Order: sequence, then structure tokens, then C-alpha cells
Amino acid sequence: MPTYIVLLGPPGAGKGTQAQAVSQTLGLPHISSGDIFRENLKKQTDLGKLAEGFMNRGELVPDDVTIAMIRERLSRSDAKNGALLDGFPRTPAQAEALSTMLSEFDGEVDVVPYIKVHEEVLIERLTGRWTCRAQGHVYHEKHNPPKVPGSCDIDGSELYQRDDDKAETVKRRIRVYLEQTEPLIEFYRQRGKLIEVDGTKPIEQVKENLLAVLPDTEQTNDLGA
Ligand code: AP5
Repeated sequence: MPTYIVLLGPPGAGKGTQAQAVSQTLGLPHISSGDIFRENLKKQTDLGKLAEGFMNRGELVPDDVTIAMIRERLSRSDAKNGALLDGFPRTPAQAEALSTMLSEFDGEVDVVPYIKVHEEVLIERLTGRWTCRAQGHVYHEKHNPPKVPGSCDIDGSELYQRDDDKAETVKRRIRVYLEQTEPLIEFYRQRGKLIEVDGTKPIEQVKENLLAVLPDTEQTNDLGA
């Protein structure tokens, strides 16, 4: 049976940071809806052009487009043993669609770690975030600085600040999260899938706490496929 993990939490909770840290250990690909949209934007695909306005305004890309994109990604061979989902689902309609599509892959959402962080912390985290241009590795100027300022420790590429990390857009993203995504906490709690993880601890400690609640997965998934 494949294993599907959904990382839930507000913008800046640390979903991407933790997914990058644990995906290799779990042997599951890290699938970030935001990263896929940004990749498409960089390549100026139709999907990227469609998503751009929504992202810059801090709003959600329409459900039908997002669901189709994730369905395509989950059907690739590197996700045959499951996936670590970051940023999807984000609305009740996306959560229902995910359940349906996973049943087609003979799976289900196994566990939903909810990375809990108070709202005041989020703005400081996002406005201080630096992201690697090549592969989206994430840093923070205070909490997780790169060894060489402006350069990714892992692949040496340039670090940049995301357009949607400006304070005004961050506030809008948090509002959108509260209105459209927060209901998923109850959705998954009622299904017995939700596990709360304190996201205010240092990055390494959040990682340890997260790994402690995640299922043991086979280490045989070929992430390079
Ligand atoms: P997306 O890229 O998914 O953004 P997000 O959910 O807002 O999440 P972030 O990437 O901002 O935060 P994160 O939780 O990953 O935090 P991170 O680890 O980077 O989406 C962007 C846009 O795409 C959306 O607004 C929407 O338009 C569109 N979109 C995406 N998915 C969609 C969907 N399903 N439906 C519709 N539209 C969609 O950490 C943040 C900072 O904090 C970093 O600097 C990090 O170093 C630091 N940090 C992390 N952990 C800690 C810690 N424990 N202590 C101190 N600092 C920490």
C-alpha cells in the first residue's frame, strides 16, 4: 500500500522546510503545489501564467486547475509508493478530491501532521525567508541562514525573496488560510488522521517530533525515477 502524508499548516509554518528535511528519510517524494506553480511560472507555461495573478494577490488558484495538476503529479512513477504533500489540499473540495484520487491509486491519506504556529510568528518568518532559485531550498536570514549570504548551501544557486512574501501579501495569504484552509483541521481530525506538531520549536526539534509521529515507510522508493 502506498503511504500518503499531508502536511497542514499556515503560510510560514515550516511545511516546506520540514518536507525537504524528511522526504529522503521517508523515501517519499516531496510534492509541493506552490513549487509546481512557481516552476510553471518560471517556464511561462499556460498553467504558470494562469496561476501568477492568484499567487501575487495571495489568493488560491482555482480548485479544478490545482486538483488536475496534483493528480498528474501523483500518477508519476516516483510517487508509486506514496508522497509527502505540502500545500495540497487547501480547501474542502481539494480534500474530497484527494480522497477520491488516492482510492484510485489504492491508497488513502494516512496521516496529517498539522504544524501549529501562532499568527504573529508567521509574518516575521515569511518576510525573512530566502528561497533557492534552482530547487526551492528554504532559508531564513535569522533562524536558518545560509553559510554564504545569497547562495544556497546545497546547490550554490542564487537566493531570492518570493514576490508573495511582501508583508501585505503575507497578511492576505494568512486571511485566505483562515477562511479556506483552516476548516481542514476539523475535516482530518474527525477522520482520526490529524496529529498536532508544535512548529514554534527550533527546526531540528520540529523535524525530530515530526519523524516520531510519521509512519515507517519502505526505503525502496526510487526518488530519481
Ligand atoms: P505555497 O508555496 O504552498 O505557500 P504557503 O502554503 O503559503 O507556504 P509557504 O511556502 O509560504 O510556507 P511553509 O509552511 O512551507 O514555510 P517554510 O518552510 O518555507 O503557495 C504559494 C501560493 O501558491 C499560494 O498562495 C496560492 O496562490 C498557490 N497555491 C499553492 N498551493 C495551492 C493549492 N493547493 N490550491 C490553490 N492555490 C495554491 O518556512 C518559512 C520560513 O520560516 C523560512 O524562512 C524558514 O527558514 C523559517 N522556518 C521554518 N521553520 C522554522 C522554525 N521551526 N523556526 C524558525 N524558523 C523557521
